[in-house]
Amino acid sequence: MPVSDHLESQKRVYAVWARIYDKIYQRLLAGPQREAVEAACACGPDILEIGVGTGLTLAYFARGSRVVGADLSLDMLKVANSKVAGQHLSHVRGLMVMDACRLGFADQAFDAVTAQFVITLVPDPEQALTEMDRVLRPGGEIIISSRLVDDGARFATIWSALAPLARAVGWSSDFKVSRLTGWAAGTGRYETVHVGAGYFKVVRLRKLASAPPVSGQPAIDGLSATEG
Ligand SMILES: C[S@@+](CC[C@H](N)C(=O)[O-])C[C@H]1O[C@@H](n2cnc3c(N)ncnc32)[C@H](O)[C@@H]1O
Repeated sequence: MPVSDHLESQKRVYAVWARIYDKIYQRLLAGPQREAVEAACACGPDILEIGVGTGLTLAYFARGSRVVGADLSLDMLKVANSKVAGQHLSHVRGLMVMDACRLGFADQAFDAVTAQFVITLVPDPEQALTEMDRVLRPGGEIIISSRLVDDGARFATIWSALAPLARAVGWSSDFKVSRLTGWAAGTGRYETVHVGAGYFKVVRLRKLASAPPVSGQPAIDGLSATEG
């Protein structure tokens, strides 16, 4: 499927999910979400959350942080926006419609970039990681939480077999940890500092303090869903 068709189909799927997402996922994802947010806050105040969705994580960030959320789905962002207003989350500086593979931010703008339960949905995860790298400062971290499979996992074959079924309901069952750690190793500028255990995993990739800037693509404007 062409990438543009894939993105349009994701928007349609999440226009429906937006109405029920929190009821299903709020408690289920809270553990890894809190762990990822805590790691992001430890990196510094300027944090980008990609695929922020309905903003389930936003209340977890330290009040001294400056968080920007991006997502493909305006419908999901509208729910996030109501949380920001209703819960007075003044540390959230903006919510923007944006594709993970084409981030409208300047090079090295953030201390941490998180992507929670989104990387497995992106048609070109390596391009998304490359964009996260571009906007991340040296010494900062890319923090991914998702359903991720260990390469040697006992049931890896079963998870692979279930992948088409999982994709049909907007989920992923066969995305391997090594796709993230392999990308990090391939850059020569990242070290993997943490790979969590369990069904949902948090993976932290730290950009070396000595990493030179990545040559950036021009920043594009996101469509602002809130005023920061
Ligand atoms: C499973 S939800 C996760 C939402 C939130 N991160 C959480 O943990 O609750 C996936 C989110 O990723 C967004 N998404 C999917 N593809 C995307 C892309 N290419 N760029 C940005 N966001 C994307 C969807 O719109 C949706 O809001």
